[in-house]
Amino acid sequence: MKYDVRQLPLLSNKEIAQGIYDMRLEYKQDDLPVQCGQFAHVYVPGKSLRRPISVCDASGGVLRLVYQVKGEGTKIMSQMQPGGTVDVLVPLGHGFSVDSTKRYCLIGGGIGVPPMLYTARQCENPLIITGFRSESLVILQDDLKACGETLLCTDDGSAGEKGFVTDLLRAHIAEVDEVCACGPTPMLKAIAAVCKEFNKPCQISLEERMGCGVGACLVCAVKVRKNGEEIMQHVCKNGPVFNAEEVVF
Ligand SMILES: Cc1cc2nc3c(=O)[nH]c(=O)nc-3n(C[C@H](O)[C@H](O)[C@H](O)COP(=O)(O)OP(=O)(O)OC[C@H]3O[C@@H](n4cnc5c(N)ncnc54)[C@H](O)[C@@H]3O)c2cc1C
Ligand code: FES
Repeated sequence: MKYDVRQLPLLSNKEIAQGIYDMRLEYKQDDLPVQCGQFAHVYVPGKSLRRPISVCDASGGVLRLVYQVKGEGTKIMSQMQPGGTVDVLVPLGHGFSVDSTKRYCLIGGGIGVPPMLYTARQCENPLIITGFRSESLVILQDDLKACGETLLCTDDGSAGEKGFVTDLLRAHIAEVDEVCACGPTPMLKAIAAVCKEFNKPCQISLEERMGCGVGACLVCAVKVRKNGEEIMQHVCKNGPVFNAEEVVF
């Protein structure tokens, strides 16, 4: 895993939906290429631990991080102003593996949608399914439409179809070879079950509380099954993307 600490110039940091911000940082990825599904570990002034945020995009010399204000750390991030720099450890983790000969179904739920944009850029005509609680939280639709075929749903039907991403996955799973997903754990568990039922390979991006972000502190351990045995692995180093069949939910 090759990564570095960089002081990246902050180009913009705008609210794009209720409590959700789009941070754009200047980033030349010549020597440190970013794999889709990897994350950045952002230093927040006054906090000892960095905050892990998925890479939403890394094209055209710009690193995009789309994040929701949850607690103090992300609140401080939302107040950062263009003109300064942001201290970022990047690129971290093991991302999605994509193969240009396959058609992918990329699924994002809520704040799990951002990493699917850079993933969509690496795929040939993907089917992109996104789901949100309601219209006020819908993000990145125009960016995603430029990368493939998109389907949108909300829990309350205020935007797109009323229902869950798994309803849309079931209806379209025959059109794709493999599924990649990021979002809340119950959604990932349900997607893994549908993929198993239809015998489709599935990669999922997990979220765990993190300390170091580089495999040194054991904070982010999860249970996975390898060769019939249950073992612990690090979400920050072995993941965040895992083969869904290996994850012990
Ligand atoms: C690999 C990965 C990718 C992520 N990508 C995104 C993203 O693209 N957009 C986004 O909005 N959020 C993302 N998250 C969640 C984001 O890291 C947390 O919402 C954020 O750290 C909360 O920090 P806080 O200080 O605002 O909240 P607080 O609750 O005050 O945080 C306290 C501590 O808990 C940690 N923490 C709290 N919630 C989480 C969480 N869900 N996951 C990991 N650590 C947490 C914080 O890092 C901090 O150390 C990601 C998490 C992981 C692990
Ligand atoms: S966060 Fe330290 S080992 Fe993963």
